[in-house]
Amino acid sequence: MVIHSVQSQLWASLGAYLQDLKESGIDGLTAESSNTAVPEPPVLQSAPPQPTPQPKAEKPEPGMTEKHETLEQIRKSLGDCQRCKLGATRKKLVFGVGNPNARLVFVGEGPGADEDEKGEPFVGDAGRMLNRIITAMGLKREDVYICNVVKCRPPQNRNPESDEIAACSPFLLRQLHSVKPEVIVALGTFAAQTVLATREPISKLRGKFHDFHGIPLMPTYHPSYLLRTGGNSDSFWAVWDDMTQVLRLLKLPVPDKSRKK
Ligand code: URA
Repeated sequence: MVIHSVQSQLWASLGAYLQDLKESGIDGLTAESSNTAVPEPPVLQSAPPQPTPQPKAEKPEPGMTEKHETLEQIRKSLGDCQRCKLGATRKKLVFGVGNPNARLVFVGEGPGADEDEKGEPFVGDAGRMLNRIITAMGLKREDVYICNVVKCRPPQNRNPESDEIAACSPFLLRQLHSVKPEVIVALGTFAAQTVLATREPISKLRGKFHDFHGIPLMPTYHPSYLLRTGGNSDSFWAVWDDMTQVLRLLKLPVPDKSRKK
């Protein structure tokens, strides 16, 4: 199954990434802790058997609770990335944008044409809709962090393929590990299904928090979907309901929005 092959490729690339970090002497990643540096998440359900337990590391084991790498370091390690075939067709790699200490991170699917031109996520029509959502929440775009499952535009905006996700996902994990948000919002079917490693439809996933590496994750409809369904549609108000849950979890005020009849 595609999901399982994505998971095993993810596991392999994550292992390679942890090994890289260890070898490059990233603080806090000891040989002992590298097996457990990223707590076993739903996305890695089909992880291979764990090696024999090692003696306890002296330093606390890094999870999403500690920061190690900066976003700049992660961007630098991507370099002129050619780890998958999207590298050959992209114009600009779209890393992420926003507050490196954001309490809230939005994760989309992958860059479209506008993002590919500008090198920034969510700058086209979907980006304007996302900005509306952020503003409606009483926040600014600069307050949050925004990134995607894959960092390069898939040709003709097709869905990213499993090898592309596997090559790129470790960088998403590293970004999330660096920002260490209190809440993640997964935008749309693709992002939600990929990070949660499920085939459940977005209509079933949204509306409740899921666990992603110990961080509450709220799936919601993609801003592009809202553009198609309209600004006062049921899906629009469903997104607003999801965002009010996010605001409550963050203990932020919930602006009063009344639904037009
Ligand atoms: N732009 C992005 O950056 N991501 C999406 O998922 C859609 C548009």
